[in-house]
Amino acid sequence: MAETMISYRYTWMIHDYIESVVDQREYQRAGGTCWRNPFSCFMCHAANILLQQYMNKTINDAVILDGTYGEGRFWKACKKRIRMLIGVDIYDRKKIVAPDIFIKGDIVSSKTIDALREYAPFDLIVIDPPYSTGITSTYARPADHANSFQWERIVKNIDKLATLQESSAVLLVKGMIRHGSNGIDYATTPFFISDNAHSYRLMHILYYRIIHRRRTTVKRLVYNNYVYVAVLVRK
Ligand SMILES: C[S@@+](CC[C@H](N)C(=O)[O-])C[C@H]1O[C@@H](n2cnc3c(N)ncnc32)[C@H](O)[C@@H]1O
Repeated sequence: MAETMISYRYTWMIHDYIESVVDQREYQRAGGTCWRNPFSCFMCHAANILLQQYMNKTINDAVILDGTYGEGRFWKACKKRIRMLIGVDIYDRKKIVAPDIFIKGDIVSSKTIDALREYAPFDLIVIDPPYSTGITSTYARPADHANSFQWERIVKNIDKLATLQESSAVLLVKGMIRHGSNGIDYATTPFFISDNAHSYRLMHILYYRIIHRRRTTVKRLVYNNYVYVAVLVRK
């Protein structure tokens, strides 16, 4: 059965794009793969809904490019359903989920973009570059810290990806809310993204609430933070 909506807990519109909050637990409730990989269930679900909304397709018919593939964790819940998944990364890491095609390279270099033309147009492009917010520093890979400048660099060059997509195709950019103020303030990144994306229109910011549970010797700590996915649509 076709999915028709993302269960937004809260939705509002202050700017000319929609903002919504979803909660990790809403996805975990589905159990199975979603219990252990709620973010993948969120991404697969969001990708499917957005493809239906903007491209009149589902992930079953879609050609998807993940430009910062990493281990491919995003696709754990839906790889089998995707028609074609292309992964790009500057490192050829050990994959949790293997893409159909993998290209080692810098996603915004002309060399990589030229190599990707063979598989274009992409119905959906996903970008999750490393960022160093301080919040996840104890978990993040050292390589991600060393490359944390890539988030800003890739977003500044985001229009280069537009040559791989047709009108109304979707681009998802993952970012993180940062509570400090070193360098770019991640709370203002929707504006930073839309200022650099002249070939795309920012439609939606999906805030995803992550719940961390940690048991210490004295008490059980529960705290949360947010990541977000900016939804851009090719003009
Ligand atoms: C946060 S991880 C992505 C994790 C991935 N979404 C997953 O589910 O496994 C960021 C990735 O971006 C890659 N990266 C950094 N700069 C890049 C660039 N310029 N082009 C392509 N990949 C890049 C890193 O090597 C790293 O694997």
